[in-house]
Amino acid sequence: MKAALLYEGKAKKVYQASGNEAQLVLSYKNDATAFNGKKKDVFPGKGRLNNEIAATIFSYLAEQEIESHFIKKLNETEQLVHKTEIVPLEVVVRNIAAGSIVKRLGLREKEVFSPPLVELYYKNDDLNDPLINDEHAKFLTDLTSVELHEIKVKAFEINTSLRLLFQSINLTLVDFKLEFGRLANGRIILSDEISPDTCRLWDKDTEAKLDKDVFRQGTGDLIQVYEQVLERLTNYVSV
Ligand code: TMP
Ligand code: ASP
Repeated sequence: MKAALLYEGKAKKVYQASGNEAQLVLSYKNDATAFNGKKKDVFPGKGRLNNEIAATIFSYLAEQEIESHFIKKLNETEQLVHKTEIVPLEVVVRNIAAGSIVKRLGLREKEVFSPPLVELYYKNDDLNDPLINDEHAKFLTDLTSVELHEIKVKAFEINTSLRLLFQSINLTLVDFKLEFGRLANGRIILSDEISPDTCRLWDKDTEAKLDKDVFRQGTGDLIQVYEQVLERLTNYVSV
């Protein structure tokens, strides 16, 4: 199914799909990193959990008519996707104050953003993914003003859909990060992954953190919490 390794990132390997130039195989690794790779560990089983969670979420979004690069799950740790050229932006949507924004703007954790906020970060490890504005994004990428606007509209639509999904499994979607990519025909679609690595998810009753913050902050067992997210998603999606 897969040919040459094209790229290895912190959490995934990207292979050319054999026999189809327009497709890629994403292979989810067991590695976890935080603080731009300064904190690292390996968690056997993490690749499978994120592959399954991302596949479930992308399939749910497809049912809601939100297109992504996801085609199908291939095996426990791999999925087939449409090949895109990743736009070097991290698009973060925030419903509730947590993480970097609390420090940057001196906010109270858990303050609600209504309407939600969208932020752009320049995807560049050497620069520590700096927060940027629209003008910077247009300068740093090949996006037109219209495409940048469409990406933000899409990010809000995805937020609305995902909030409902997580609400029905008793989780609050605090914030999350998206990446978009350009297909060979020029169209921009949702790419990369959506998983507890890229979302903050809090249990609605206990406010327990069921995401990568348990690793970032060293407060819990990453595999146990990711398993819980997958189990809740699987029970919900299969009813
Ligand atoms: P932040 O509060 O650290 O800026 O993170 C906002 C959201 O983006 C959070 O859900 C985690 C996610 N995220 C990533 O997926 N990758 C990253 O490199 C960072 C910094 C955050
Ligand atoms: N993804 C980044 C890293 O791997 C940061 C983070 O998610 O906290 O270091």
